[in-house]
Amino acid sequence: MMVRITLDGVEMEVAAGLPLTEILQARAPGWRRSPRLAAPRGAFCGMGLCGECAVEVDGLWARACLLRSRAGMVVRTETGA
Ligand code: FES
Repeated sequence: MMVRITLDGVEMEVAAGLPLTEILQARAPGWRRSPRLAAPRGAFCGMGLCGECAVEVDGLWARACLLRSRAGMVVRTETGA
């Protein structure tokens, strides 16, 4: 089943229940950057411990590695927070 989500203002259709980190890696490359070199990087621990995958989901701070896609989800990768 496919669901519609919004990622950084762009509506898209993705598979329901897909790990959010997989969506971000595929649709928003560079969503995480090294603070020292500004090089793209992805999630680190993948299990909710490090906070490297922090994004805004439906207006709240969230760890992307702990979430799966669901209908109507609104994700922002750059919130300035
Ligand atoms: S990758 Fe470490 S909390 Fe998500």
